[in-house]
Amino acid sequence: MALRQIRVDGDDILRKKCKEVKEMTERTRTLIDDMFETMYDANGVGLAAPQVGILKRIVVIDVDYETPLVLINPVIIEKDGEQTGDEGCLSLPGLAATVTRPNHVICRCLNEDMEEIEIEGEGLLARAICHELDHLEGILYKDVAEGPLHEVQMDDDDDEWEDE
Ligand code: NI
Repeated sequence: MALRQIRVDGDDILRKKCKEVKEMTERTRTLIDDMFETMYDANGVGLAAPQVGILKRIVVIDVDYETPLVLINPVIIEKDGEQTGDEGCLSLPGLAATVTRPNHVICRCLNEDMEEIEIEGEGLLARAICHELDHLEGILYKDVAEGPLHEVQMDDDDDEWEDE
């Protein structure tokens, strides 16, 4: 495993649409492992492949650092409810803004063995799924934020929504 460089806002690759994953390869498995390592190293709860410069429809999420999720070719098939709160992103370090998201989503995707699964998320997990899927379309949370970006303190015992 290896850390990959996280692309930051302004990098064109974050604005491109990602391609579907057709088959699992050693290269893609390594990418997924590296994405987890890179996300944990940066104290994030989610990371999308374009954030490490790869235009594939792959997302990793772990909102409680106990439940690593791999989402390949993910599609939201159900959403309801609403939550409004601060959101951040590893590609916009030190910043956050208010974003309204569904409070509950069901996402259909493939796991790392290319088996179809459904992931149900509430609260933070629903927010993370929506945020990461937007990355696959070249959308950043600042595009859908309700207020201006503001600076946040990057401190370790902050248990609020951290970057993802
Ligand atoms: Ni992000």
